[in-house]
Amino acid sequence: MRVSGLLRILAVIFVLFTSWIFFWGYLSFSMKTVRLPRWLAGAVSKKTRVVKTRCNLSKPCPDNYFAFKICSGAANVVGPSICFEDHMIMSPVKNNVGRGLNIALVNGTTGMVLKHDHFDMYSGDVQLLEKFLKEITEGMLVLVASYDDPGTKMNDEIRKLFSQMGSSHANQLGFRDSWVFLGARGIKNNSPFEQVGSWWPPHPWRRGGEQCQG
Ligand SMILES: *[C@@H]1O[C@H](CO)[C@@H](O)[C@H](O)[C@H]1NC(C)=O
Ligand SMILES: *[C@@H]1O[C@H](CO)[C@@H](O)[C@H](O)[C@H]1NC(C)=O
Repeated sequence: MRVSGLLRILAVIFVLFTSWIFFWGYLSFSMKTVRLPRWLAGAVSKKTRVVKTRCNLSKPCPDNYFAFKICSGAANVVGPSICFEDHMIMSPVKNNVGRGLNIALVNGTTGMVLKHDHFDMYSGDVQLLEKFLKEITEGMLVLVASYDDPGTKMNDEIRKLFSQMGSSHANQLGFRDSWVFLGARGIKNNSPFEQVGSWWPPHPWRRGGEQCQG
């Protein structure tokens, strides 16, 4: 009995002692880790400043490629944005986006922004969008981002015009789908850049992506 009692006391002392050592080890370790990230953070932020990409793309584009990033809106809460060659053409901050389809036209040779506008596809005048799309000529790049609802007023004529620019989803686009697209009039194949998300069943609403365009 006395031996086991002594062993118990020794065990308790042992536990206290090791936790003491562990505690101090932990403290000095955590003090080191408090200092380390500051050095690391300094080094990292210096590096990211050096490798800044056009449109903040995750990877830089080759010199002879255009960099662009298009994000659809998220439901009717977060507005869409269209960036081309480090120029934010449309965004909520610029206060030039709207419900429906947000479209920017860019000269495909020079990358110069030619025009941008938004078209309410829920209760707007769809003739305005038809007119806008019919005035697009060859050699222009067309960048599209949806916001809230691109589908309600969508008609066959508009679906056809987008299909002729290389869209493979414009034919099915419906109520509150999210859609991002880059195309050009008269391109023979499907656009290399297009994403669509359906409203139902629920999905992460925001579609978006970035790419280099040759
Ligand atoms: C890139 O990111 C920086 C820092 O977040 C921001 O200030 C800048 O406006 C962004 N540029 C574009 C074109 O989005
Ligand atoms: C694009 O810019 C070039 C050079 O300025 C010009 O010759 C061409 O007509 C423009 N194309 C369009 C579609 O605006």
